[in-house]
Amino acid sequence: MNPRPVIDVRDIIRVYKMGEVEVHALRGVTLQVYEGEFVSIMGPSGSGKSTLMNILGVLDRPSSGEYYLDGIDVSRLGDARLAAIRNKKIGFVFQNFNLLPRVPALRQVELPLIYSGSGGRAKKAKAALEAVGLGDRLWHTPAELSGGQQQRVAIARALVNDPAIILADEPTGNLDSRSGTEILRIFQQLNREKGITIVFVTHDPYIARHTNRVIMLSDGLIVADEPVPNPLVAGEVAERVDESSLLELVIGRRVE
Ligand SMILES: Nc1ncnc2c1ncn2[C@@H]1O[C@H](COP(=O)(O)OP(=O)(O)OP(=O)(O)O)[C@@H](O)[C@H]1O
Ligand SMILES: [Mg+2]
Repeated sequence: MNPRPVIDVRDIIRVYKMGEVEVHALRGVTLQVYEGEFVSIMGPSGSGKSTLMNILGVLDRPSSGEYYLDGIDVSRLGDARLAAIRNKKIGFVFQNFNLLPRVPALRQVELPLIYSGSGGRAKKAKAALEAVGLGDRLWHTPAELSGGQQQRVAIARALVNDPAIILADEPTGNLDSRSGTEILRIFQQLNREKGITIVFVTHDPYIARHTNRVIMLSDGLIVADEPVPNPLVAGEVAERVDESSLLELVIGRRVE
């Protein structure tokens, strides 16, 4: 059986209107991501990465263009159906974790299950926290957890509904390199062992080398889309190469 696209966007345009001014954040993005892929999105600040992620995560709608999510034409769905589909199919992880203050880890992870009306919530939430190595932190609140641990709670919350896709906008952006590597290791494991499709944004070419495919955005357009030759395994020692040649190394050719 051929792999099928879990994400299929065609000619996506997103214009932000601010009074008289229009910002053309995405100017025609066409992209397919197939089941089981592990993709990183790179590009300069302001190139449209977050705008694209928010659309892929159906947190925002494009001004025009089509989006088939796991075969469903989501451009035609009303808000309630859309929210239900998002909750079921997509786990979203944010740079700043987006956890509720004063709420213990276990309860944070139960939230998506409450929205989806699932039973056995505590058991499922506990299993998701165990999967990210936090089985001994169930009752800790965000203030009682390190940054890397908070992000792992956020990943457990993204995982708990068994999504087809995890989308993450700079999930390692606020973390030191050791915690960042731990997050990468978890993503690689979820991708390889559970077959979850993962798309994340990073500014760090070294992090991108741990994924299987790199997409480069520039000024609202995809300017490169390349497989990563010999992706790195998180935590295995690899020489960090000179930054300027890194990107070339990631995608195998120079991008202007
Ligand atoms: N809500 C908004 N209203 C108006 N303009 C916006 C809005 N969000 C983003 N933009 C503009 O759209 C363009 C793309 O922004 P976006 O946040 O997608 O960039 P980015 O690639 O994620 O950048 P960064 O790497 O800094 O996070 C930018 O020019 C930005 O100023
Ligand atoms: Mg951004």
